Amino acid sequence: MSKTKTTAKTAGGSRLKKWFFRLIAVAVLYVTCQYLDTIKHRWYVFEPESLHQLAKAAIAASPDPNDAWFMTNYIVKNLTETYSPTQVALNLDTSEWFFSNAGGAMGAMYVIHASITEYIIIFGTPVGTEGHTGIHTADDYFNVLVGERWVFSPPNLQMERYPAGSVHHVPRGQMRQHKMHEGCFALEYARGWIPPMMPFGFADILFSTLDYVTFYQTLHIPGRETLKNLLIGKI
Ligand SMILES: *[C@@H]1O[C@H](CO)[C@@H](O)[C@H](O)[C@H]1NC(C)=O
Repeated sequence: MSKTKTTAKTAGGSRLKKWFFRLIAVAVLYVTCQYLDTIKHRWYVFEPESLHQLAKAAIAASPDPNDAWFMTNYIVKNLTETYSPTQVALNLDTSEWFFSNAGGAMGAMYVIHASITEYIIIFGTPVGTEGHTGIHTADDYFNVLVGERWVFSPPNLQMERYPAGSVHHVPRGQMRQHKMHEGCFALEYARGWIPPMMPFGFADILFSTLDYVTFYQTLHIPGRETLKNLLIGKI
């Protein structure tokens, strides 16, 4: 009888200890994340303003205002001449496009750069699409190259229009309804914490399209680029 009681008491004590250590671990993790969030800017290589200038230069140089292919190549050429490969890894294969389904919107993307704290992609579709931007752990700068992006952000009940040459900024933690009314392509730059954005990139594939080819590409290509950057010390 007394032996059973002691065992029960010890079990209760060790369970309390376990929870205590779990609580400590969560607190340490929280403080670490808070700290990393205050220093993440140290790992940024790109600037929203210079990328906006580059997007505008690509539009100005294009022989045709709908030539997203030309603009993509112009942008990649400029970035490779501006940034050293020891500083940041860029994906130079401008034909490596794959579908993107996220937040109900469908288009295709080409990943120019992906790392833990930044990404640069060309995203768009010639047929138009509409959806939810998602709520993200990164600031998003959407530099329209071709066409227009329409945006709804209540309580402003008027549509915001972003034509080619403009940039639409969705701050971290906010969301919008967005529409690429007709054909639209954009240079999209995100800075903040990129890996937590991934579930948003997979939800539509896993619960709607079941497109296993796109699933593989969405996992493989950004993963490979992030790894290439980690290997040269770009977080
Ligand atoms: C890249 O584009 C920016 C913005 O248009 C421009 O200032 C810079 O000179 C370009 N760099 C190269 C190497 O072309």
